Amino acid sequence: MTNQTALDADNMEFWQHVCGTKAAKLYGYEGSDAVSIGNFDRWFFQYYPYLRRFIPFDQLAGKSVLEIGLGYGSVSQAVAAAGAQLTGLDIAAGPVNWLRHRLALAGLPGQAIQGSALDIPFPEGNFDHVVTIGCLHHTGDLKKAISEVHRVLRPGGTAIIMVYSATSHLRWLKHPAETWRYVRSVAAGSDEPLALDKHGRADFDAAPDGRVAPEVVLASKTAFSRMLNAFKKHTIRRTNVPDHPIVGLIPRDWRVQTEGRLFGTDLYATARK
Ligand SMILES: C[S@@+](CC[C@H](N)C(=O)[O-])C[C@H]1O[C@@H](n2cnc3c(N)ncnc32)[C@H](O)[C@@H]1O
Repeated sequence: MTNQTALDADNMEFWQHVCGTKAAKLYGYEGSDAVSIGNFDRWFFQYYPYLRRFIPFDQLAGKSVLEIGLGYGSVSQAVAAAGAQLTGLDIAAGPVNWLRHRLALAGLPGQAIQGSALDIPFPEGNFDHVVTIGCLHHTGDLKKAISEVHRVLRPGGTAIIMVYSATSHLRWLKHPAETWRYVRSVAAGSDEPLALDKHGRADFDAAPDGRVAPEVVLASKTAFSRMLNAFKKHTIRRTNVPDHPIVGLIPRDWRVQTEGRLFGTDLYATARK
């Protein structure tokens, strides 16, 4: 078994738990009925308010849109509701089945299929838009995943790609030496992401039973920008802040606008092929 095959198998198993389940439980939206899902989605788009700015929902009617890395399915459902021809792709069966359930419940068209971002099962130039939020950094080969996104986009099509930032305040405060070494390597010209050990990964995605995601890599804005150089043009914006017991008393919207813009945990690229 190659390392990649083993990682794919680990990802398939780990992400079975459907990312978002913890939040759904915490806020009391865990049901599989339309009301619970609708309440979860309202919470989701309020909690991540910038998603409605970064994803051009009002321009998606009639467009073919691929979402990769489905999690709880809020983005895919909103894409389908916007009138797009939706394809959802995820390595794990859990999120795929959950999206199928959502679409059927809402009476929306669209397909959800199981497969890897590293080998997208569609021909070159197949999609007008690709949206992938918080997924490609789990695949084991961020640069290959980005090249796959580029391949399946039509010329002129756009990708919205979120990856975790290597230079967030979280990283500088908790892992200053590692962050400094990484920043130096990028300053020397590297376009490699920073792979995290188990300890570092624990700051990001954990399952309800405490297991951490099998793979997480981070990128600085500069390194991410280099990874996107096959695209004709791109912009990258920083945002998002982690919850915190004390700082969390400050309204989240305000933190996202200020702290998020300077030292946020997420980098959102909009890239045109
Ligand atoms: C952190 S969740 C993000 C979900 C959602 N986009 C969101 O923002 O809430 C990561 C998702 O990526 C999926 N994923 C992980 N590795 C993948 C791969 N190699 N190919 C496709 N999907 C993958 C997981 O199954 C999971 O649904």
